[in-house]
Amino acid sequence: MMTIPFNDFKDQIAAIRPALEAAMARVLDRGWFILGPEVEAFERAFADYLGGGHVIGVANGTDAIQAALMALDLPMGSEVICPALTAAPSALAIYAAGLIPVFADVDPVTYTLDPRRLAECLSERTRVILPVHLYGLMADLPAIQAFADQHNLIVIEDVAQAHGAAIHGRKAGTWTPLAAFSFYPTKNLGAYGDGGAISTPDSDLAARVRAVINLGQTGRFQHTLMGINSRLDEIQAAILALKLADLDSQNQRRQAIAQRYHDGLSDLPLQLPTAPDGYEHVYHLYVIRVPSGRDELRAHLRAAGIGTDVHYPLSLHRQGAFQSHPIASGGLAVADRLTGEILSLPMYPQLRDDQVTTVIAAIRAWYEHKAV
Ligand SMILES: Cc1ncc(COP(=O)(O)O)c(C=O)c1O
Repeated sequence: MMTIPFNDFKDQIAAIRPALEAAMARVLDRGWFILGPEVEAFERAFADYLGGGHVIGVANGTDAIQAALMALDLPMGSEVICPALTAAPSALAIYAAGLIPVFADVDPVTYTLDPRRLAECLSERTRVILPVHLYGLMADLPAIQAFADQHNLIVIEDVAQAHGAAIHGRKAGTWTPLAAFSFYPTKNLGAYGDGGAISTPDSDLAARVRAVINLGQTGRFQHTLMGINSRLDEIQAAILALKLADLDSQNQRRQAIAQRYHDGLSDLPLQLPTAPDGYEHVYHLYVIRVPSGRDELRAHLRAAGIGTDVHYPLSLHRQGAFQSHPIASGGLAVADRLTGEILSLPMYPQLRDDQVTTVIAAIRAWYEHKAV
């Protein structure tokens, strides 16, 4: 039994329980569960939050990436460059769209797709770059977009881990023609079930995406495009609209926790998360890099009742499903090294200050013991 679990929804739900129950009751009473007024209202509210454009709700973040790619109608087998250090769905969705992921190495400081490593991933089949805003920090979109412009590629943001993150005030999900969000329960904006969305500034692309995610229909029983069934449901949309109102304050609480971790750990031989100038980090995860003894530290924290995790224990080209396919010609040494050194500490808005202090003390105790 963990005294400080890696994640905990109890307090989050308790804080909004009456409003949640009212929202769910409203949907049940209406008796309309798919593509109804709650989804429309949430899509509008999330588009407003992002500062305009179109938002289309979908069933989960994996489908959001797949549907965004399908809306582009690329030749089968086109290549999509994505980072080797990300959640598997980033790449699974590329395959599901009939395309091939090509893994690129990541930056050793920010852990996001390294724009300096894009050139070695290019082939005549490359069409898209899918940067992932990892752990709450946006990838270097200005540099990635500049590379894409030079090579006539489309950029799609994977914003599953970075709702509310920004570079120079411009939010994640508003930089590229299409962007994909997940509302998996642990995300900065999380449903109580699966959910996802696509954002786009372009009304033609929005219409294509709407058709793709609704069985390819451009009208009832008119299956004009190749499609999938991936719709956000009314109950999750009602919950998300409620939680969206608190997204910024919850992100601020994550930032305050990150600052506390930073203050308590910065003199230890660890690499702590950093954000380049002008980047707003929203700390979906607080990932430290432990150059030696990561697994021992993790075991020590587990014994102290503190839950941790590793995001991710393998870079994607090491996973069974992705063994036999293209990677950057320069290799993926940074991603590989990171997977042996990174450790995610508890990070959720309801984590109390005294709990953060306990985590810091337990890490410090391990280093003191190690020094003996
Ligand atoms: C970076 C990234 N991309 C895509 C996804 C897929 O989202 P979902 O779990 O909603 O399908 C996730 C979440 O698991 C993720 O972390």
